[in-house]
Order: sequence, then structure tokens, then C-alpha cells
Amino acid sequence: MKLLITGARGQLGLALQRRLSTAHDVVGVGHAELDISDAVACERLIAQIRPDVVLNCAAYTAVDKAETDPTTAFAINATGAGNVAAACAAHRAFPIHFSTDYVFDGNATRAYVETNQTNPLSVYGQTKLQGEQAVVAASPAHMIFRLSWVYGNDGANFYKTMLRFAAERPTLRVVADQFGVPNYTGDLAEAIATVLSRPRAELERLSGLYHLSAVGVTTWCDFARAIMSGAGLATQVEAIATTEYPTPAKRPAFSVLDSAKFAAAFAVAGVLWRDGLERCLAAR
Ligand SMILES: NC(=O)c1ccc[n+]([C@@H]2O[C@H](COP(=O)([O-])OP(=O)(O)OC[C@H]3O[C@@H](n4cnc5c(N)ncnc54)[C@H](OP(=O)(O)O)[C@@H]3O)[C@@H](O)[C@H]2O)c1
Repeated sequence: MKLLITGARGQLGLALQRRLSTAHDVVGVGHAELDISDAVACERLIAQIRPDVVLNCAAYTAVDKAETDPTTAFAINATGAGNVAAACAAHRAFPIHFSTDYVFDGNATRAYVETNQTNPLSVYGQTKLQGEQAVVAASPAHMIFRLSWVYGNDGANFYKTMLRFAAERPTLRVVADQFGVPNYTGDLAEAIATVLSRPRAELERLSGLYHLSAVGVTTWCDFARAIMSGAGLATQVEAIATTEYPTPAKRPAFSVLDSAKFAAAFAVAGVLWRDGLERCLAAR
């Protein structure tokens, strides 16, 4: 298949480009080549490339900055998501979109399924939810994958920040009262490769919203400890409460995503997040 990846220089975009290029004809465009908030540019590029599938990895992901810049976050995460999906619909391309666990408020005590009520706590979460709605409205054929705690060896993410801080500080203080599941970009790319091994008609039949996550649950603090131990670093990680590390954007206290719908639709077993971390560290 011919694939177009937008936001292709981000951490997920890079991992998808690397993995999917082994089986497909992939064109990746970064922010400089396509600004998804520009509807005309989206339409023109998709008309020119004529992809079978468009994977939209472009997003405004600065969660805290979005609180004081909601207009830009909305233009990219909501309007931009709709622009890409509308251009897909106009040119018979199948849109694959990525969303977030931050559409939930974190008051649940069991892993979230796709039908659970959303209630974002932050501007980022609100604009990502509006993006999901824009995709559904623009293209009846679509897949939306909600992801959580994405990390890898590319770009900026918690895992890389912890490794950098560990080289500079003897002790790290990390919040221990937010629960979620870290997801290695390499594993997410593998899961999307499985999706794209299906014929186009099958993708259309399986249209809809999916939670896509590794298995297990942890906290940022225990994730940081696992990173230190996996990397062979002696740096101590001290557990702190969210109240001791105030941020402009409020995060859900619990944002575990249940991937059972994805596993059933694509006949794949979920990977353990700790195994993903091992693969990520080994790929450094
Ligand atoms: N990171 C996480 O923990 C996480 C968790 C859940 C869901 N997700 C979702 O997963 C997807 C991929 O995220 P990621 O972690 O790969 O993010 P990322 O590393 O920040 O990549 C996003 C990319 O989008 C580009 N971009 C920003 N504005 C754009 C625009 N107007 N037009 C085109 N490109 C634009 C950025 O380029 P510039 O930097 O040059 O602007 C960047 O390369 C996003 O939908 C995100 O919401 C991420």
C-alpha cells in the first residue's frame, strides 16, 4: 500500500516510518512540509500523493503549554485532525488518527474501554477529543487509536528526560500517584504494522475507535525506577505526590487503557510494558 505519514519527524511518526517502510511505499512529511492546520495544503498534498492510507502523527503535544495557548492547540489537534480526514475522504484515502488517554478524567478504578465517558481535564485533552470528533465527522471510514505514555529513543519524552537527568543528578523526585501504562513507539509501530497487513476493505470494515496499549500498570515513579534499573544506573528515584510537582495542566490520576477491542479485532496479544522498555533500552 502507499502510505502518507504526517508529523513524520515526531517520535511516533519516526517509528512508524521506520517499521512500515519494510512492507509499504511510505511518504513521510514533517511539520515544515505540511502544516495540518492548513486545510488547502492537506487537500493539495493528498491529491498529489494519492495514498491508500494516511497516518496522522502530527499533533500539538506540549500538554502544559497548551493551557496558555489553546488557540494553537485547537488549530492543530482539532481543526488539523479534521483537515487531514476531510482530505482523505475527498481522495479515497483511509485516515488513521492518534488520540490520547488524556481524554479521560482519571476517576475510574478499572482500565478504560472505548465506550467509557470522556471528560478531559486539560486543554490538550479537550482539543484531542475535539480532534476525534472532527475525524469521525469528516470521514465515516477511519481508525482512531488512543495511546498513552508514549516513549522511545527519538524525540522528547519522559524516558529520555529521566536518562538525561540521571546523568546530571544523584536523586530524581518523580510522582507516584498517577497510574498508567508506558508504551514504546517500537511496539506501537509493530501493532500498526499488523493493522496495515489487512486489506483496505478490511480496514474499512473495522473502522472505529480503539484503545491501543501495552499490558500492565505502573506509576511515573516506578517507570523511572524501571528505566534506571534497566539502564544499569544507580540513581535513586524518590516517590513524591502530584501536589509536590504542580504543573499548569491537570493530568488524570488513572489513565490505563483496555486494549481488548484491538486485540480481538486484529488477533494480537498485548505486550507487557516492561518488555517494551527492555526492547527500547536495547535499541539505544
Ligand atoms: N507523547 C505521548 O505520551 C502521547 C500519549 C498519548 C497520545 N499521543 C498522541 O500520539 C500522537 C503522536 O505523538 P508523539 O508523541 O509522536 O508527538 P511528537 O513527538 O510531539 O510529534 C508530533 C509531531 O507533530 C508535528 N506538528 C506539530 N504541529 C504540526 C502541524 N501544525 N502540522 C504538522 N505537523 C505538526 C511536530 O513537529 P514540530 O515539533 O516541528 O512542531 C512533531 O514532529 C499524537 O496524536 C499525540 O497526541 C502521544
